[in-house]
Amino acid sequence: MTIRTLLVTASPHRDKALGSRLARQIAARWGDLLVRDLVAEPLAPLTMDYARALTLRDPLPRANATLALSECLIEELESTDRLIIATPMHNFAMPAALKLWVDYVLRIHRTFAASPQGKVGLLADRATLVIVSSGGFHRAGESQQPNFLTPHLEAVLNTLGIRAPQFVYLEGLVSRRDAPETIIAEAAAALGDAWCQ
Ligand SMILES: Cc1cc2nc3c(=O)[nH]c(=O)nc-3n(C[C@H](O)[C@H](O)[C@H](O)COP(=O)(O)O)c2cc1C
Repeated sequence: MTIRTLLVTASPHRDKALGSRLARQIAARWGDLLVRDLVAEPLAPLTMDYARALTLRDPLPRANATLALSECLIEELESTDRLIIATPMHNFAMPAALKLWVDYVLRIHRTFAASPQGKVGLLADRATLVIVSSGGFHRAGESQQPNFLTPHLEAVLNTLGIRAPQFVYLEGLVSRRDAPETIIAEAAAALGDAWCQ
C-alpha cells in the first residue's frame, strides 16, 4: 500500500526554508506527497457566518466558502497517512499562517467532539513530525527565550486525535547560517530510523 504524506509548510522562505528542505528529504523516501504551502496560498480570514455556525450552531450551506475551505483542508488530513509540519518560530510561537490553518482544521463536531471529560479527537491517529526552525535557541539550558510553539501545536494535534507527534528543532539559524547542510544532517540524525530510513 502506498503511504501518502501531507506536508504543511508555513515559512516565508518557501522552498529555501531549511525545515521544508528536511521535510521533503524525508518525505521523498515514502510514497505520494501532498503539499499545503500556507505562504504560497494564504488562507482567507474566518468569516462571521462560519464563526456563528461553530459557536451557535447556526445552519450553514455546504456551499459556504469558508466551510468548503475547512472541509478541503480536513479532507487533506483524512486522505493521507502521515503528516509533516515544517514551520518557523515567529515571536516564540507558530506563524499566523499556520495558526489560521489550525483554526480551519480543528473544528468542533467535525475533527473533535466536546465531552464532559474534555475534547476528543475524531481523526485517525498517524505518524506525525513537526520540524521547527528558529533564528535563535530556545531549548532548556541553551537560551532565555520561551517556546510557546511546541506545547500549543502539541495540544492542537492531540485534540485532533494525533497522540504522539514528534518534534525536531533546527535552531540558531541566524548565527549558523553558513552551515545549512550540517544543521539538516544533525536534525536527521536526531530523528533516527523511524523517519529517516
Ligand atoms: C516575524 C519573525 C519573527 C521571528 N521570531 C523569532 C523568535 O521568536 N525566535 C527565534 O528564535 N527566531 C525568530 N525568528 C527567526 C526565524 O525563526 C528564522 O528566520 C528561521 O530561520 C525561520 O525558519 P525558516 O527558514 O523555516 O523560515 C523570527 C523571524 C521572523 C520573520
